[in-house]
Amino acid sequence: MITAKTDFRSILSLDSELSQIQDVDLLLERILLEARNVVHADAGSIYVKDRVKEKTGDVEKLVIKYAQNDTIQKALPEGQKMIYSVFSIPIDEKSISGYCALTGKLINVPDMYQIPESAPYSFNSTYDKISGYKTISTLTIPLITADSRLLGLIQVINSKDSDGNVIPFSQDDEFLITHFASNATAVLQRAYATRAMILRMIKMSELRDPKETGTHVNRVAGYAVEIYERWAYHHGVNSVEREKFRDTLKVAAMLHDVGKVAISDLILKKPARFTPEEYKIMQHHTIYGAGLFDDSQSEMDSICRDIALTHHENWDGSGYPGWVDPFTGKPIKTGPGGEPIGKAGQEIPLTGRIVAIADVYDALCSKRVYKDPWKEEDVLTEIRKLSGTKFDPELVDIFFDILPNIKQIRALYPEME
Ligand SMILES: [Fe+2]
Ligand SMILES: [Fe+2]
Repeated sequence: MITAKTDFRSILSLDSELSQIQDVDLLLERILLEARNVVHADAGSIYVKDRVKEKTGDVEKLVIKYAQNDTIQKALPEGQKMIYSVFSIPIDEKSISGYCALTGKLINVPDMYQIPESAPYSFNSTYDKISGYKTISTLTIPLITADSRLLGLIQVINSKDSDGNVIPFSQDDEFLITHFASNATAVLQRAYATRAMILRMIKMSELRDPKETGTHVNRVAGYAVEIYERWAYHHGVNSVEREKFRDTLKVAAMLHDVGKVAISDLILKKPARFTPEEYKIMQHHTIYGAGLFDDSQSEMDSICRDIALTHHENWDGSGYPGWVDPFTGKPIKTGPGGEPIGKAGQEIPLTGRIVAIADVYDALCSKRVYKDPWKEEDVLTEIRKLSGTKFDPELVDIFFDILPNIKQIRALYPEME
């Protein structure tokens, strides 16, 4: 039997692991997984409190973010993800989750089919009937911040003993998960704050450049993550490293053009193609963007800087801005005319090479003031053609390998008219 003491120690090491994750969605998924591990739960769900549009207006409800179920997962073919329906629960006393959110109390139910009549809540067994899975013991824990705000809750389902029998959650489990939840909430709160700040930065560049829409940055970040994952798989990057990097890349890719905030309206909002002079000025968005992350305190900052600076470099060295100091914009390596030499091949950071493909692919597929979207097959022919000149050939091959995933992301974030 594992003692509460050893489990407690493992919770402490989890804290630092969780705090490395910056993306809210990845963090929620990981929190649920670890919460289940801490109390040996077969299944579970994680919910966040959010405003949901209803006929009567906006209401605060609990919205499911992730559901996990080892028993159902094991019955699926390898590599296939469990599909769960997306739903929301009212914050009231009728359900266990609603009651937990309302009162802020942990609720430990040994047997969902034996809830006493006197309890304010009851069990809705619809899910069990549809899935054929039997929910017996549950432990529902609110995620409450130090300043008493409810962020959401975790519900873990069916505690298992070492022989795989379902047993009720113990008092030790309650203690462990309470501690885990309070730390997870603090990490989650930080991730929300980071996301809010980044969304503000993106909104700012959107206000300055109407061509740079929120859906564009979401798509570019989505494509970049897919390309990276396949690249990392080919290069034997372990899953922990892969997940961490994927998270940072997603955020940093969204900020690739943030330097456009420093470009004059006359150029930025010109409803036509640029003159050569205007184009030269426009190219400076790479350096301005990199300059925003000059205080390189974290991996996140240095990746944001790499992407902002190098997403217009070309594999053959013909891109911009080339070898410049990201803080001052001064050339570091120059050609005969004093112009900075372009970075080529592996001199361009992987992240910059990835975002270059993602950004061009999305730009060609999208409508711009001066052009209609290209036909799908023309876009693909163009990307193939630019392999080895504009783009890293290995990444172009990967792009074509994962084309179905790329198209799915495009469908997920359609252009809003
Ligand atoms: Fe750009
Ligand atoms: Fe872009």
